Amino acid sequence: MIYPRIIAHRCGGAVAPENTLAGLRLAGRLGCRGVEFDAMLAADGVPVLIHDETLERTTSGRGRVAGMSSAQLARFDAGIPHHAAFAGEPLPTLDEALRLCAELGLWANVEIKPPAGQEAETGYVVARHAAMAKGNLLLSSFSPQALRAAADEAEQLPRALLVEVIPADWRERMATTGAGALHASARALTADAFEAVRDAGFPLACYTVNRRQDAERLFAMGVSAVFTDRLDLWLPAEM
Ligand code: G3P
Ligand code: MG
Repeated sequence: MIYPRIIAHRCGGAVAPENTLAGLRLAGRLGCRGVEFDAMLAADGVPVLIHDETLERTTSGRGRVAGMSSAQLARFDAGIPHHAAFAGEPLPTLDEALRLCAELGLWANVEIKPPAGQEAETGYVVARHAAMAKGNLLLSSFSPQALRAAADEAEQLPRALLVEVIPADWRERMATTGAGALHASARALTADAFEAVRDAGFPLACYTVNRRQDAERLFAMGVSAVFTDRLDLWLPAEM
């Protein structure tokens, strides 16, 4: 699996409203080649881009994402909580985001974000939509159940298991989910754990790395990619 070195966390991280099309456009303009975003199901089963199970932090809406239809969610403003300059930016569907990534030539990591109890359903539906998209993409999830469902739906799509700390049984977990790569928190990464993953031939990508010196240390160790909110720290040629 070939990773872009620098991946825009939640579409644009600090430079744009998270999980929005504006974030994808800005990431592309800054020279970023890879983006990550979070996909969750609306009440009508349409996958949309959002990180939290509730709307308050990142949109003008209130309440649970899973309690509203995609048409209701589309009316909320996902730009204003970041900055008034982004007012009117909609909460996008996964299909809209994947279409824009294909247009802009962005490699996309779709993180499957299921609320508790909806793991398998979210995995199936997100994988079904991703399988219909054009372009280069990878599915990931903290939920082994969601990842397993994604594998059953679209075996051909590359998948990564997300963890905070690399667990002692990481090999078994990767085998059960059919994952070909591991995404782990940079903060909790130890050299021993990293070497075991690397020696087994699996790429490792680390989140969320917002200082250049931390990214350089990780690349020197052999980490494949970093997720960052700070796209402004790199020149296009370095990404
Ligand atoms: O996929 C990497 C990273 O996005 C995982 O954490 O909480 O930002 O989705 P979170
Ligand atoms: Mg994420």
